[in-house]
Amino acid sequence: MSLDEISDTTYKQIVGIVYRNSRINLGAERHNLVVGRLAKRCRELRLPTFETYCQLLNSGNGKPELTTLIDLISTNHTHFFREEHHFDFITNTVLPEFKANPRNNVETFRCWSAAASSGEEAYSLAITLEEYARRFGRLSWRMQATDISSRVIEDAKDGIYETSKLRLPSPALHDIYFQKGIGESEGLSRVRGAQKEKISFYQANLFQENLPFKGEMHLIFCRNVMIYFDNASQQLLVTKLINHLLPGGYLIFGTSESLMGINHTLRSLGRSIYKREK
Ligand SMILES: C[S@@+](CC[C@H](N)C(=O)[O-])C[C@H]1O[C@@H](n2cnc3c(N)ncnc32)[C@H](O)[C@@H]1O
Repeated sequence: MSLDEISDTTYKQIVGIVYRNSRINLGAERHNLVVGRLAKRCRELRLPTFETYCQLLNSGNGKPELTTLIDLISTNHTHFFREEHHFDFITNTVLPEFKANPRNNVETFRCWSAAASSGEEAYSLAITLEEYARRFGRLSWRMQATDISSRVIEDAKDGIYETSKLRLPSPALHDIYFQKGIGESEGLSRVRGAQKEKISFYQANLFQENLPFKGEMHLIFCRNVMIYFDNASQQLLVTKLINHLLPGGYLIFGTSESLMGINHTLRSLGRSIYKREK
């Protein structure tokens, strides 16, 4: 065997390793993509075959390479204000409801971007919260943002994006929330420190036993990640997310994702928005 072909057994082994460590379900349709990316990685490591790559993953020294493998196969596509109606829903429903509850006068609004990728979702949410506070008065908030890929979480912590790709709902938001790069950083925009300080970014697997933070949330975004999991994993994840949600809290999935076939106690509000009633 060479890096031009992979045996069924070796491919299945790699699929199994990925599944056990992330629950990402690599269907047959992703075969070519996975093999292409792994072949490149094997060349970088000067490994002659996929079998030797598998041996490395299974060896005592395999842990760092496992991190790289997950980085390689995870799909991290995202952008600012993706599925913008979810951010409108937060402004028009979630936050007014939170502020209207007298018990929340001294309460911090807690939210979690559970598959945050390179941070665009978390920062879009931060801008939404800050804009609400600017228009309607003080809002204390904190955010947790997690992703299994250490590569994208490092990008999220940096908070530097191509200015041309920002896609903000209004251009005026740019100067409030971003600093424009100059010189070598021309064309780049950096999220301002005040927003970053309220967000804690962590590399974390949604299925790991203990998450790196505690506390129940008023809002959880778990968007465009369920599609990579099989039914059993989706069920496990939804149960876990509900346990991290306060009564009255909101759980939002990607618009193309639904909880059909999943047992849950949430009320569906349409457009992949769910509420925990009690
Ligand atoms: C397509 S991106 C979605 C990003 C963002 N939520 C959005 O909707 O734009 C999916 C993200 O889920 C992450 N992911 C996949 N499996 C995961 C797991 N088991 N635990 C945590 N994150 C995971 C991937 O690394 C990837 O960054």
